[in-house]
Amino acid sequence: MTALDLSSPVAVVGTGTMGQGIAQVALVAGHPVRLYDAAPGLARKAADTIASRLDRLVEKERLTADERDAARARLTPVDDLAGLAGCSLVVEAVVERLDVKQELFGALEDVVADDCLLATNTSSLSVTAIGGALRVPGRFVGLHFFNPAPLLPLVEVVSGFATDADAATRAYETARAWGKTPVACADTPGFIVNRVARPFYAEAFAVCEMQGADPATVDAVLRESGGFRMGAFELTDLIGQDVNESVTHSVWQAFFQDVRFRPSLAQRRLVESGRLGRKTGRGWYDHREGAERPEPHTAGPAEPPAYVVAEGGLGPAAELLDLIREAGIEVREAEEDEGSRLVLPSGGRLVLADGQLSAEFGDVVHFDLALDYRKATRIAVSHAAHTSAATVAQAVGLFQALGKKVSVIGDVPGMIVARTVARIIDLAVDAVAQGVASEEDVDTAMRLGVNYPLGPFEWSRRLGRGWAGALLDEMHEVDPCGRYAPSLALHRYACATDQREDTP
Ligand SMILES: NC(=O)c1ccc[n+]([C@@H]2O[C@H](COP(=O)([O-])OP(=O)(O)OC[C@H]3O[C@@H](n4cnc5c(N)ncnc54)[C@H](O)[C@@H]3O)[C@@H](O)[C@H]2O)c1
Repeated sequence: MTALDLSSPVAVVGTGTMGQGIAQVALVAGHPVRLYDAAPGLARKAADTIASRLDRLVEKERLTADERDAARARLTPVDDLAGLAGCSLVVEAVVERLDVKQELFGALEDVVADDCLLATNTSSLSVTAIGGALRVPGRFVGLHFFNPAPLLPLVEVVSGFATDADAATRAYETARAWGKTPVACADTPGFIVNRVARPFYAEAFAVCEMQGADPATVDAVLRESGGFRMGAFELTDLIGQDVNESVTHSVWQAFFQDVRFRPSLAQRRLVESGRLGRKTGRGWYDHREGAERPEPHTAGPAEPPAYVVAEGGLGPAAELLDLIREAGIEVREAEEDEGSRLVLPSGGRLVLADGQLSAEFGDVVHFDLALDYRKATRIAVSHAAHTSAATVAQAVGLFQALGKKVSVIGDVPGMIVARTVARIIDLAVDAVAQGVASEEDVDTAMRLGVNYPLGPFEWSRRLGRGWAGALLDEMHEVDPCGRYAPSLALHRYACATDQREDTP
């Protein structure tokens, strides 16, 4: 099954933000495109907007003037659905309401031929439910573009229960022919990206809600240590708190209020108070003119320790040992390998975030996971109230000697980056185990859809397959609300490579 022929007319129904973008993509790819919107005059207005965007592409030399003129000539706004007769593909991008979409597709079936591919751009409704009442349901798929559609490469091609494999393949190949990177996924709440990405927001909000750190510190740690393009607070201020919360809410509801997807009370309050982010001037941050952006917590200078004793290889933080040596600090090897930690001259221990509270131990400082300890410019550390001042100072001084800024946060199990990455890996592994998508497509979706520095499976391979499960096991023990309980799929995934010697 191949992509639609470029001579096949494509219809876009609903010519708002997404409809305009999708129409532009199909048009620039070479199709004749027809636009329809229920609101009188909007399709024509959208055609004008698309035409002026084509002008800008010519200015930027991404399109020649001839190509623009030809594209304009292929673009036709129509005044009623009947004008879509003869189209080979209809992409729907109308308001996010099940009843409206169902009614629209019912009416469309009376207009287009039985072999016309029907696609919805829904982000949160079930593709199966939208196409449920169709006369020919096999040709119905989800084609989930991301905003702005002309710029973002990812398209989730969603198969509902009734979708024919041929229809899904044709939609997939067509998206690819349009220059997009399609990923195949099953009809599941949030599809791939909006399902697997939930913890990125939820864990940041949770750290803040439990007073572990303020938004500016969490954001700085996610960016400078985790390697994420933006922190969760600044990103949701950009997206709109209402938009982000409504996705979270709908995924949580669709999973029958599964605690792993539970929305944030703090975000609810923001939405209720109209602090929707940049678009209203305030969200987590104050974006009004003249407002000062709060600084992340950054510890003042501290003396580095003269030496550290390495007990074990530090696992995913092993590179720190090289960095410490390069900074001129002696690394002594422990005579007995007691685990995986550094002992400071104070006698206190420095331990990679493992899901446990520092408070459960004696003189301990935890430090957060970094995507790349060499490149990280900030490291978060946490400690208990009873941790000695000398141990905290030496931990801070050690990271400062490596050229890092240090944020001291509250005693939060799993800290910031570690808990976020562990939960993303858990949801990714669970999604694959449930047949939502392949490991490769999940990685592609998360890198392209939300700009993660690594896909969850790439990240997991770096950290060791057992890492996320072990961290979540510990978190679940100290916080048994259910949200941190690793999935069965994650246990199975971790065991898959364990060299088991014992036979039950
Ligand atoms: N905005 C995003 O970031 C984004 C991203 C991915 C997917 N989506 C999905 O795309 C769809 C559209 O979102 P949007 O942000 O472009 O919305 P929008 O409000 O900008 O545009 C919706 C358009 O649909 C028209 N419309 C409403 N009912 C109609 C009907 N019955 N027939 C024809 N036209 C109708 C409206 O007049 C409006 O012009 C939704 O399903 C949304 O979930 C949105």
